[in-house]
Amino acid sequence: MKVLVASNIAKEAIELLKAEGMEVDVRADISEEELKEVIKDYDALIVRSKPKVTREIIERGEKLKIIGRAGVGVDNIDVDAATERGIIVVNAPGGNTISTAELTMGLIISAARKIPQADRSVKEGKWERKKFEGLELRGKTLGIIGLGRIGFEVAKRAKSFEMRVIAYDPYISPERAKSIGVELVSFDYLIENSDIITVHVPKTKETEKMISYEEFRKMKDNVIIVNCARGGIVDEDALYEALKSGKVYMAALDVYEKEPPNFNHPLFKLENVITTPHIGASTKEAQKSVGMIIARDIINLYKGLPVINA
Ligand code: MLT
Repeated sequence: MKVLVASNIAKEAIELLKAEGMEVDVRADISEEELKEVIKDYDALIVRSKPKVTREIIERGEKLKIIGRAGVGVDNIDVDAATERGIIVVNAPGGNTISTAELTMGLIISAARKIPQADRSVKEGKWERKKFEGLELRGKTLGIIGLGRIGFEVAKRAKSFEMRVIAYDPYISPERAKSIGVELVSFDYLIENSDIITVHVPKTKETEKMISYEEFRKMKDNVIIVNCARGGIVDEDALYEALKSGKVYMAALDVYEKEPPNFNHPLFKLENVITTPHIGASTKEAQKSVGMIIARDIINLYKGLPVINA
């Protein structure tokens, strides 16, 4: 089998594929145009959130049998086009859960205590102790939108900070939420009663801009907004207005409507916005884990064994 690795994945995964006799080409910076040209030669394709695997690319993949997403979200892959051609799409849903939950906690604490801003100030030779008075997490209400794998781990960690944790998730049972001390509530209740809101849902037609002007209007004053899920779930223009007006105390974003984002957007000029470049899953542990999950699935397909996709 010939495998094209079109993103940076863990070297252990590449070694495993080679050890199983696969021919592996690594072209981490391949463009969509280039991918269109070369895809016909490959049986398997591995990507992360880039490049975009469009219908056209899939249709040109004459030999393509499997597309592996070394991560969770498959929103950059035209899954319908792949399914129509009998191409299997696999992801690694559990591989980066902890890393993303830990980054979320990092951003929540950074926002509440203005850590990145304080760091910048000290490095500018200033000693502004009053300016960097922040907020305690204890006793605050954390609203989690989406209590799936990542949301669940965020909730467990937030409970250890003695926070009240509420969640909106129409797909989860109240018993599962209760097992870790989380109260399931309606979307409106969460929006109106949270001190900190963090989103952990995939980007779909239903979740796109699910936090926009109307939701910001209903929120408590001085709310903190965190998005480590997908850009565009929180409407960037509406967020900018809410930050400017002082409604939102601080926003921490790891993901953007377009990536890399439009750095000229006024959001990037605000002091009360913390930004990171989509690094939720960027740890040694998560990358090894998602890479190995995908490599094993490809090997299983090659050997005629079941593809596990877990
Ligand atoms: C994911 O969907 O797994 C994350 O966004 C991380 C990544 O793109 O690698």
